[in-house]
Amino acid sequence: MSLTKLNSRAGAGVSRRGFVGLLGAGAASVGIGSVGVSPAAAAGGATSAALPPASSPEFWKAVERLFVLDDKVLFMNVGTVGSPPREVLDTLDRVHREVAVKATSSYSDFADVRAVAAQGYGCDPDEVVITHNTSDGMSKILAGLALKEGDEILTTNHEHSGGNVPIALARDRHGVVIKRVALPVGNGQRAEDYVELFRRAITPRTKVLMFSAPTYKTGTMLPVAMLAKLAQDHGLISVVDGAHIPGMMAYDFHELGVDFLAGSAAKWQCGPGGTGVLYIRNKVLPRYNPNPLPEFWPVVSSSYPAEGGVPPRTSGATASYDIAAMLQSVGNSSLAIMSGVRNVCEIWDRIGRDRIQERVLQLSAYTKDLIAERWGVGSLYSPKDDPRLVCGLTSLAPFRDPRDVHDAAKTAKLVARLKDEYGIVIRTSDFPVVGSARPHQAVRISTHLFHQEEDVERVVEALWRLSGDMS
Ligand SMILES: Cc1ncc(COP(=O)(O)O)c(C=O)c1O
Repeated sequence: MSLTKLNSRAGAGVSRRGFVGLLGAGAASVGIGSVGVSPAAAAGGATSAALPPASSPEFWKAVERLFVLDDKVLFMNVGTVGSPPREVLDTLDRVHREVAVKATSSYSDFADVRAVAAQGYGCDPDEVVITHNTSDGMSKILAGLALKEGDEILTTNHEHSGGNVPIALARDRHGVVIKRVALPVGNGQRAEDYVELFRRAITPRTKVLMFSAPTYKTGTMLPVAMLAKLAQDHGLISVVDGAHIPGMMAYDFHELGVDFLAGSAAKWQCGPGGTGVLYIRNKVLPRYNPNPLPEFWPVVSSSYPAEGGVPPRTSGATASYDIAAMLQSVGNSSLAIMSGVRNVCEIWDRIGRDRIQERVLQLSAYTKDLIAERWGVGSLYSPKDDPRLVCGLTSLAPFRDPRDVHDAAKTAKLVARLKDEYGIVIRTSDFPVVGSARPHQAVRISTHLFHQEEDVERVVEALWRLSGDMS
C-alpha cells in the first residue's frame, strides 16, 4: 500500500491542531545567558529554521539531516531512547561551556522552559515539570497522592517498572491494593473494548486509574481521553504512563482530560538524555475534566514554604499556586540540560507536532501493512485497524513456527543478528497473553520522524529473511 493512501488513516486522538510556526531562527535562544540558535550548518548540518516547505518531497529527508545518528546503522528503537538533533547538541555544548567559564549556579523554577514546553503540549506552564525521565515523573505522582490503606489502584498487566515500582511502594507503605486488567493483544480490539475492561473492574474502593498509553510491550495506544472520561465519571484520579507520548503524539494534555501524565523527553521528543515531562492538572477544566483537583503533595521540592504551607488547590479555572514551579525547583540544576529541552521543544513546534504525529503514524501503518502482507495480520501484537489504538511502535511474532512465540533466547538471537548482519537496531518485548500459560516473545520496531519509507521496507525485508533462516 502506498503511503499517500495511508495519509487519511493517520492522526487519531486528541491533538494540538495548530502548527506553531512562529518561532524563527533567532527565537531558539533559551533565555539563559547568551544562548541562541547554534550555527549547526557550520558542522555541515541543516538547521530546523531552514527546512524546505512541508509540501516538498524533500521535507522528511531534510528533517532526517537534522540528526547525527550513525548512518551505518538503521536505528529503530526510539521506544527505548531517541537521539537529539544536532542543534540541541550544540546548545548543550555551548551552555555547558558558558556555565563552566562563568561558574554559573542555577537555582530556578525554569519558567521560560516550562512555558515553551506547555505551548507544545497544550497545557499551562504551571502544569509542566521537566523531570529526569518517565520513571521520575511516575514516582513523583504516586508519592504525592494521598492514598490510604484499602484504596485500590486499577492498572494493567502490561505496565513498565516505571509505573509498577511506585505503585508497589504505595502498596507496601500505605496498604494500597493493586488490581490489574489483563489486556488483550493484536488487531482484534477496538478502543471501546479496552474502556469496557476497565469499567467492569472498577469497585467502590478504586481511587486511581493508572495505565500506559501506549503500552511499551505491544504498542497499544490505550485511548487516553476515553479512559480519562471513565475515570472522571467514577470520581477516580487518572494517572497516565505516557513515556512515549511527548514528541510522538501531538496530544493536547488539557483536552485529554487526565489528572497526571508522565512522559520521557529523551525518547520520541529527542531531548537530552535523562529528561522527562510531567503534567499535573492544576485547575478545574469544566469542559475536559470538571472534577475537583485531587489532593497532591509536591514531595520533591526546595521551594515548598518552610512555614505556612500552600493554599488549598483551586476549585475553579484559575490555579491557586504554581505546583509545577514547586516541583521544578529542586536545588541547583543544569542550565545546559534545561536549555536543550527548550531547544528541542522549539524544533518540534517549528516542524509541527501534528505533522510529526501524522508522519510517525504513516510510517507505522506502512510497517504494519508490510508485516501483515508477509506474516499475516495475526502475527501483529499491535493494533492496526482502529486508528485510536495505533502509535509509532509495532510488535510482532517474528517466527513462522507458532511454538517459537515462547522462545526468548531465539528472539534475542534474532535481534542480535539483525544488528550484526543487517545493521538494524530494534528490541525484544515479552508479555502475558490472555489464554496463554507462558509469556509471548516479540520484537518491537519504532518508526520516527527521521525514518524514511525505504527504512521500513529494509527492516521488514531483513526480519523476513532472518526469521526464515532461523525457522
Ligand atoms: C511505558 C514506559 N514507561 C516507563 C518507561 C521508563 O522510561 P524512562 O526511562 O523515561 O523512565 C518506559 C521505557 O521504555 C516505558 O516504555
